[in-house]
Amino acid sequence: MNSMLEVKNLKTGFDIDGALYHAVDDVSFSVKPRQIVGIVGESGCGKSVLSLSVMKLLPKGIGKITNGEVIFQGKKLEGLTDDEMNKIRGKDISMIFQEPMTSLNPVFTIGSQLTEIMLNHGDLSKKAARDMAIQLLKSVGISRPEKIVDEYPHQLSGGMRQRVMIAIAIACQPKLLIADEPTTALDVTVQAQILELLKSIQEKNDMSIILITHDLGVVAEMCDEVIVMYAGKIVERTDVDSLFHNPQHPYTKLLMASIPRIDEEVGQLATIQGIVPSLKNMPTIGCRFADRCPSAKPECKTVIPQLAKFEEGHEVSCLLFESSYPKESVR
Ligand SMILES: Nc1ncnc2c1ncn2[C@@H]1O[C@H](COP(=O)(O)OP(=O)(O)O)[C@@H](O)[C@H]1O
Ligand SMILES: [Mg+2]
Repeated sequence: MNSMLEVKNLKTGFDIDGALYHAVDDVSFSVKPRQIVGIVGESGCGKSVLSLSVMKLLPKGIGKITNGEVIFQGKKLEGLTDDEMNKIRGKDISMIFQEPMTSLNPVFTIGSQLTEIMLNHGDLSKKAARDMAIQLLKSVGISRPEKIVDEYPHQLSGGMRQRVMIAIAIACQPKLLIADEPTTALDVTVQAQILELLKSIQEKNDMSIILITHDLGVVAEMCDEVIVMYAGKIVERTDVDSLFHNPQHPYTKLLMASIPRIDEEVGQLATIQGIVPSLKNMPTIGCRFADRCPSAKPECKTVIPQLAKFEEGHEVSCLLFESSYPKESVR
């Protein structure tokens, strides 16, 4: 098997005031076994919507996949019923959300939330599940797990709650973990510990990870491949080395330049002018980044660029590259 996950031409839209607006627009990528793929981009670029689409956890009646397919271990997910999807979710694919407090249930103990998933997906006695819960808490670096197992989420620190979320996510040894900004809410030291933990679990369990972050330092530390998203589209995809040493898309270059550096004065910090367009204000023609792009040429406002090969394993969607012109366009 050469792909753990394949996403092909995925489009996800939201119904806003009776009209459909796409937050993910024609996105294709794949994740290989044991690979860590990073997804980066500013807030509002569609990273979370993309992961919720893969998990089929879009808000019902509001968000829907309008095109494309998601293939997990060779199996198409779109035809599956809620029941069938429930069997996959948590067991084969699981997800860690940005804010652990909102995804842990405040009225249940840590232990019952951990054992619930194991009892749902496995054939275990309650006692065995509780023992496993304690083992899992220990494996994610929680000291005194015998005590924590009977506590409630609000009794734990942010870092501890995120460790619990990781324990829940890996309880059934999923093949794919989607971690959506797993450390954003945490302070820097805890952040480093959590990332180290994820990496060690990934190696031990032979797991693939989709790691969503706006922190390029995290990408450098963790990822094999990186997808750069802007306004619902992939603008660049490459391995982590060339992301840092040979970025091509003007947006990627600006993201790289906005990493604070220790040897720089804060005043010199490069930021990207303007903001990510909201769904209702998404440009319908031309490149979505054109308005903010320092390298934009006149046709960037009229021709929609295509994601195309720049070099082996490296794709860019930008009209500065001949290959990104749509085949049918007349210049
Ligand atoms: N439930 C929703 N209803 C309407 N619009 C939404 C909803 N969730 C997300 N969006 C919009 O979709 C776009 C992408 O959002 P999101 O995927 O959360 O961005 P990111 O995770 O990259 O910060 C944003 O414009 C956001 O406002
Ligand atoms: Mg998000």
